Amino acid sequence: MTVASSRASACIEALTGLFDKNALLTGDDIPARNRADTSFLPPVTPLAVFRPGTPGEVAAALRICAEYGVPVVPQGGLTGLAGGAHPIADAIALSLERLQGIEEIDPAAATMTVRAGTPLEVIQKAADEAGFFIPLDLGARGSCAIGGNLGTNAGGNRVIRYGMAREMVLGIEVALADGTLITSLNKMIKNNAGYDLKQLFIGSEGTLGVITRAVLRLQPQPGCTMAALCGVDDYESVVKLLGGARKGLGPLLSAFEVMWPDYWHAATERVQGIRKPIEGKHAFYVLIEAQGLDEAVDGERFNRWMEAQFEAGLIADAAIAQSRADILAFWRTRDAAGEFQTVLGPHCAFDIGLPVAEMDRFAGTCRKRLENEVAGCHSVYYGHIGDGNLHIVALVEGAAEQPSKEINRIVYETVRGFGGTVSAEHGIGTVKKPYLPFTRSAEELALMARIKFALDPKGILNPGKVIDLPKTETFA
Ligand code: LAC
Ligand code: ZN
Repeated sequence: MTVASSRASACIEALTGLFDKNALLTGDDIPARNRADTSFLPPVTPLAVFRPGTPGEVAAALRICAEYGVPVVPQGGLTGLAGGAHPIADAIALSLERLQGIEEIDPAAATMTVRAGTPLEVIQKAADEAGFFIPLDLGARGSCAIGGNLGTNAGGNRVIRYGMAREMVLGIEVALADGTLITSLNKMIKNNAGYDLKQLFIGSEGTLGVITRAVLRLQPQPGCTMAALCGVDDYESVVKLLGGARKGLGPLLSAFEVMWPDYWHAATERVQGIRKPIEGKHAFYVLIEAQGLDEAVDGERFNRWMEAQFEAGLIADAAIAQSRADILAFWRTRDAAGEFQTVLGPHCAFDIGLPVAEMDRFAGTCRKRLENEVAGCHSVYYGHIGDGNLHIVALVEGAAEQPSKEINRIVYETVRGFGGTVSAEHGIGTVKKPYLPFTRSAEELALMARIKFALDPKGILNPGKVIDLPKTETFA
C-alpha cells in the first residue's frame, strides 16, 4: 500500500466512524452519476462519495480530509460543462445532494434562504408560490443545484436585466478547507462592513470553499411577459435592434438571444418537436423578451416598439407571442441547445465572451478556421448576445473520438485575437484551464494563486481546477 492510499483508507475510516452509513459510498456503491459531470470528460471513479446532510457535516468532513491530506471535489447537480465537478480518482467526491431544502422565505426582506443542494427549479417554484420571482434561469434548471450555480456564478437567460448569479446573493455560508464554517447569512442589501467575503467564493468553482447555504434576493413577480421571435437579415440590424430594445423597452428588457442559421437548422430540424415560430430563411433569429407590470400598458408598449422596428427596416419577419404557450414555444427553439448532446452526440461546447459588435465577424472567422483546419468539423453559433456571450457547439459528427484539443485551440486562439474571454458564464474547471492565460494577465493569475494559497494552502479543495497553488518557494 502506498502512503497516499493508506492515508486515503485512514481518511475514509475516520469519515465512516463519524457519519451515518448513508453518508459514505465506496466501491461498487458509487453511483454512475457521481463519476462524471456534463463536460464529456471520461468517467472517473472517486475514492468515495461523501454525502453530508448538514452544513456542520460538510465542515467536519473537510476538517478530516485536511487532516489526512485527502482532496475533495464538491459536486452539485453535475450539469457543469467545464469539468469543475468532475471527480478525481484520488479524491473524495463531496456531493451536496442530501443538503436540500428551503429554510426560510422572508417576505419583508424579500429573501429566501436555501441549502446548497437544492435544484434551481425547486427554488423557482417556491418563489412563485410565495408570490415572488427568482430570475436565475438556465436550461439545466431541473437538475442543476443552487450551490453549483453560485459556485460557477452561472449566467443564463435573464442576465441582461437581473445580472449574473452573484448579483442575486445577499448572504452565504461556506465551509473552508480547514473545516471552519463561515456562516454569513446576511439579508441586508447594503452591508459595507469590511470585505465582501461571499464574492470570493461565488464563481470560485469549489476551489476556495464549499458553499453550504445561501440567502437569495427575491424579485417581484412580473405582471406580464411579452416575447417576439424575429428574423433579421444582417448583423448590423441585430446590433441596432439590441440598442433599440435597451432604449425603447428600458428596464423591461429581460432577454435578447440570437441564433445563427446553422444553430436554427440544428434546433428546428434535428431536435424533435420544435415548432418554428417563423418560416423562411434569415441571417439571424432573435428572441426578445420583456417583463412588464401591466399587460394593457406594457403589452401595448411592446407591440408599438416592435412596429417601429419593422418600420425602421431592422426586422424582416416576426412572430409576437399571443399566449404563455407561444412564449414557451419561442424559448423551446433556444432551449433546444440542451438536447444537442443527444441528437448531435459528443461535442465541444463554448461560452465565450466578445464585444457585441464583433460577434458575427468572430463567428465567420471561427467557423472558417474550424472547417479549414479540422476535417469534417461543423460548428453552430447562438447565445446571450445582449450580454456579450456567444455559445458555440463544434464537432466532427460521428467521429469515434472528437478532436477536442484542436477544436479548443482554434476557438480560443480566435477568441484571444478578438480580445474576448474564454468563459463568460460556465467557468473554467479543467476544460478551459489551459486557456485561462488567453484572457487573464500573468499578474491576475498570480493574484488568483495567492488567494488560493491563502484559503487552501494544502490544495485539498478541487485540486487541478481553475488555478493551481503557487510554487511554495515563491512564497517563502
Ligand atoms: C445555454 C447554456 C449552454 O445558454 O449556457 O444554452
Ligand atoms: Zn448560456
